[in-house]
Amino acid sequence: MEDKGTVWLPVDASTMAGDIDSLFYFTYWVSIVIFVAVIAAIVYFVVKYRRRQANERTERVHESHLLELTWIVIPTILTMVVFTWGFQLFLKMGIAPPDAYEITVRGQKWSWEFEYPNGTISMNELRVPVNKPVRLVMSSEDVIHSLFIPAFRVKHDVLPNRYTAVWFEATKEGEYPLFCTEYCGTLHSGMLSKVFVLEQEEFKDWVDSGGGDFDDMPLEEYGEVLYTQQACIGCHSTDGTRLVGPSFQGIYGVDRVFDDGTSALGDDNYLREAILDPAAKIVAGYQNQMPPSYSSLNERQVSALIAYIKELQ
Ligand code: CUA
Repeated sequence: MEDKGTVWLPVDASTMAGDIDSLFYFTYWVSIVIFVAVIAAIVYFVVKYRRRQANERTERVHESHLLELTWIVIPTILTMVVFTWGFQLFLKMGIAPPDAYEITVRGQKWSWEFEYPNGTISMNELRVPVNKPVRLVMSSEDVIHSLFIPAFRVKHDVLPNRYTAVWFEATKEGEYPLFCTEYCGTLHSGMLSKVFVLEQEEFKDWVDSGGGDFDDMPLEEYGEVLYTQQACIGCHSTDGTRLVGPSFQGIYGVDRVFDDGTSALGDDNYLREAILDPAAKIVAGYQNQMPPSYSSLNERQVSALIAYIKELQ
């Protein structure tokens, strides 16, 4: 994106952004005017009523009803304006248009999963059509996360055992950051994804193809795509670095030692089990942190990941 937004606000790329920014700038300028007026009054009074000689007493001051009314009435009006304006926006943000396109969002430690109406799933990459209202229905596999798309001015907690929803209508094609803004554990800061706003036809083709056409791709290459797309990258390095989970490098064909003292050869069948049923064997020195959701990977995806891991020797 060329447009980086302003000093205070990121680029505005949804129908709601303009309204929210106007309210922000209204509050901002009112605060600046009041701040400057109060500071100016302080400086003026400090100078005007400074003590000029020892034992000097000020004259008795009587209250001014006009002045008191002014500083009660004006701030009351201003707060009521901000309240009404904000409440209207709050309602608008809370109620999605009935024809909104619905995407299911699942937060988990530490990745985002997006599921489209036809069953297409993408990890850590949300794709949406431009100029079409989109509603996100969100829940969490584990702890509280929070979905934040600054460019759309959209932010909402994602809770376990409960659905929450937000909606937006993107107005500019492009790529925007999506963050988790609720501290959710070790790799909270790694829970960043991207939103891609696509032209409507392009979006439709992408969803219909099941999230990209990888049928002709060689297994190792597809595995590398999945490594990012399925968010393995959050917990497993490919260069031997220790993260939340063991690195993918140098585990194929090597004996794996588990926390119960047993061991097994890191072959295809071991890797298959480690992906589909991660709790079955826990490598010594690590904790059982991997979400069970990978059991929904299909046969080709599992083979592709194994082929990719095999390459990392
Ligand atoms: Cu999920 Cu922070």
